[in-house]
Amino acid sequence: MRTPLGRGICFVCLVLSLRVHGARCHVQDGDVSHDTFDLTEQQDSTKVFMGHSKQHEGLHHLRHTRSESNLGHEVVQSLRDHLFSRIHLDLKPWAHSGISLEMVEQVYCSYNTQSFRLQIIDQTMYIVGETREFPFFQTNMKLLLADVWARYEGRLPDVDLVIQFDDWIPPTLNGTHPMCPHQGPIFTATRKAEDWWGVLCPEESHRAPPGWLAYRKLIMRSAERHPWDHRTSKLFFRGGATGTRAEQLGPDFAAVQSPHLDVQLSNPSNHVSLPNQCSNKYLLHMDGNTYSTRLKLLMLCNSTVIKPDSPHQAYWWHLLEPGTHYVPTGRWEPGTASVHLTRLVEELERDQEKAQRVAANGFELVRSVLTFDAVLEYWHRLLMAYSELQTFKPQLHPDAMTLADSILALPAHVQRPFGERTCQICGHVATPEQQGLYESGYYRSLHG
Ligand SMILES: *[C@@H]1O[C@H](CO)[C@@H](O)[C@H](O)[C@H]1NC(C)=O
Ligand SMILES: *[C@@H]1O[C@H](CO)[C@@H](O)[C@H](O)[C@H]1NC(C)=O
Repeated sequence: MRTPLGRGICFVCLVLSLRVHGARCHVQDGDVSHDTFDLTEQQDSTKVFMGHSKQHEGLHHLRHTRSESNLGHEVVQSLRDHLFSRIHLDLKPWAHSGISLEMVEQVYCSYNTQSFRLQIIDQTMYIVGETREFPFFQTNMKLLLADVWARYEGRLPDVDLVIQFDDWIPPTLNGTHPMCPHQGPIFTATRKAEDWWGVLCPEESHRAPPGWLAYRKLIMRSAERHPWDHRTSKLFFRGGATGTRAEQLGPDFAAVQSPHLDVQLSNPSNHVSLPNQCSNKYLLHMDGNTYSTRLKLLMLCNSTVIKPDSPHQAYWWHLLEPGTHYVPTGRWEPGTASVHLTRLVEELERDQEKAQRVAANGFELVRSVLTFDAVLEYWHRLLMAYSELQTFKPQLHPDAMTLADSILALPAHVQRPFGERTCQICGHVATPEQQGLYESGYYRSLHG
C-alpha cells in the first residue's frame, strides 16, 4: 500500500516535458556544490547532470548518462515542491482548530515513549524533557536541529512541539482526557496512512555518522567506481532480522540461494558496508520494524532497488513511483521467496534497459532532490507551517534546556524519566497502568 498523497503528478512526464534550454542556474546546494551550470550545454549531459563537471571529467562512463535522467533545474524544483507539499497534508487535521498549548501538553504528558519537546523562542532552540531511551536517535536529532538553527537563524519561528523517536507512533488518545481531550500533533520519522496525528519530519538518520552530506558522496563515489557491466548480476541484501524479515524470507531461504541471490540476514561474519553493496546490479530493500532509513542509501548506489510494498511512510516516500524509482516485488506465497525473487532478477537480466532506467531514476531522485539542503529546508518549512497553526505564544517551559547545553552536557544531566516531566496543564495524562502498558510493548503490538 502506498501513500495516496500526490498521485496526480507523473514525474516521468515532468522529466520529459520540462527540458530547459538557455537558462543559467545557480544550484543552491551543498552537495551539488555551488558551481554554476549552464543548461545550454544540453549535449554535454555530464555538465548539466553533475553540475561540477571538472571533478568527473576522468570518469568516462558518466559521459553516457541517459538524457532522460538529466533532471534540469525546473524539474528538480517541481520535485522539491512536491516533497514539501506533504507538510500541509500532515498538518491538515489542525487546519481549522489550530494547535493549542493544551494539545502540546497532552502529547508531552501522555506518551511514555522516547521523545523530547522542542521549543524555539526568540531564535534560541530548547530541548525539553528528553527521555532516556535510545540516546543516539535523540542526540542525532539534536545535531540535525542544530544544523537547521545554523542555517536559518534569524528566520526561525517561535514553536512548541513534541518529537518522538520510537519505530511506531504511539496510539491516539483523542478524547480520553477531561482537561486535554484534543489530540496534538506528534512529530515522527514514520507513520502509516491512517495515523493522522503523526507529522512526518526528516529523521535523525540524516545526522547519523558520517552525516548525510558525506554519506551521500561516499556512496555516489562508490557507484561511479562500479560501472553497470562490472557489477554482479545478483540481488543483494544484508540487514538485521528485524520485523518480519526472517518470516518473509522463510526458514529455507538461506539453503536455496540461487546464483542470482545474495540475500542474507546480517550476522557478524557477513557484513558488507553500504558503499560496497554498489558492486551489485540489484539491491533488495525490506521494511525493518517499520520503515527502514536505508532506502535512500541503496538508491544512491545507482543499482536497481527491488522492494515489497510497505504500509509505512517517511517524509519523502510520496515521491517514489513503483516501476519508475524501484521495482515492486509483488507478493509471494510463504516459502517461495527465493523462487519469486530469482524470477524477478531473471526478468531484469533480460531487460537491462529497464533495470538501468529504474536504477538511474532512483539514483537521480535521491541525488538531486533529497539533498542535505532539502532536509534542512523541509525542517524550516515544517516549523513555519506549524507555527502558523499555533494558537498560543510559546513560553519557556520549566523543563527546558538550551539546545547547546543539551548537546554539550553529560547525558545524565539532560535526560529524565517520563514521570519527572513537569505537567502543569493536564497533569500526567497516562495512568500508571497505561505507562506500564507502553513499557511492556502492549501498544506497540497493537499498533505495529
Ligand atoms: C548510473 O548507471 C548508468 C548505467 O546503468 C550510467 O550510465 C550512469 O552514468 C550512472 N550514473 C552514475 C552517476 O554513476
Ligand atoms: C478528536 O476528539 C474531538 C473531541 O474531543 C473530536 O471533536 C474530533 O473530531 C476528534 N478528532 C478525530 C480526528 O477523530
